[in-house]
Amino acid sequence: MRENLLVVANWKSNKTVSESLDWLKIFSKEKEKINLQNIEVVICPSFTALFACSRFIDENRLSIKLGGQNISEFGDGAYTGEVSARQLKESADYVIIGHSERKKYVFESRHSMEKKAEQAKSFGIFSILCVDDENDFVMPDPSYIAYEPPTAISTFGVGKADDPLHVAQVFLKLRKKSGAKLLYGGSIDENNINSYLVIENLSGFLVGGASLDPVKFLNLLAKC
Ligand code: PGA
Repeated sequence: MRENLLVVANWKSNKTVSESLDWLKIFSKEKEKINLQNIEVVICPSFTALFACSRFIDENRLSIKLGGQNISEFGDGAYTGEVSARQLKESADYVIIGHSERKKYVFESRHSMEKKAEQAKSFGIFSILCVDDENDFVMPDPSYIAYEPPTAISTFGVGKADDPLHVAQVFLKLRKKSGAKLLYGGSIDENNINSYLVIENLSGFLVGGASLDPVKFLNLLAKC
């Protein structure tokens, strides 16, 4: 039997608190119609909405996990604007590290990514390290590696999903570098997800644009 798939929704800088809660309300109502067994769903809202989402999930006993889109490389203390691992852990069990948008727009460095992964680990937060290709930097032990070629990201590169055969080749190379579970991300949607499910070593997906609408996201999950 196939292992559980992890499907991570990366909302990026979208949705207010009330929009995030509306998404959860629709998702929790509509999800009764499909079988979500063997799928672990992780939503990564903005920091501003994380706690409200976490409370909603607890109150409604939903089987959804939460993740941060970033984490501080420092601990608690005098680091204005940063969200520490201990703060994140109040609401989230996962964190995305080194997304290509962060590398491009805020020049996230390898050193910083390493420190972030260390912080996450010390608070029991699963790290999802993003890599652009098989030669990209991989720290010793991320929980997950998300292969996301920038050209495949729907709002960033040319927005063309990578060929599943090429993803499989990249996964083989990444597997030699790390024992972390492997995810694919970049223009995944309900129409193309099927062709990636057969990839050896695939443990799930990182989904951006197609996760913003709860019904579309559920349609995508239904194909898994
Ligand atoms: P996309 O984004 O699914 O919109 O291509 C994926 C990501 O950037 O994580």
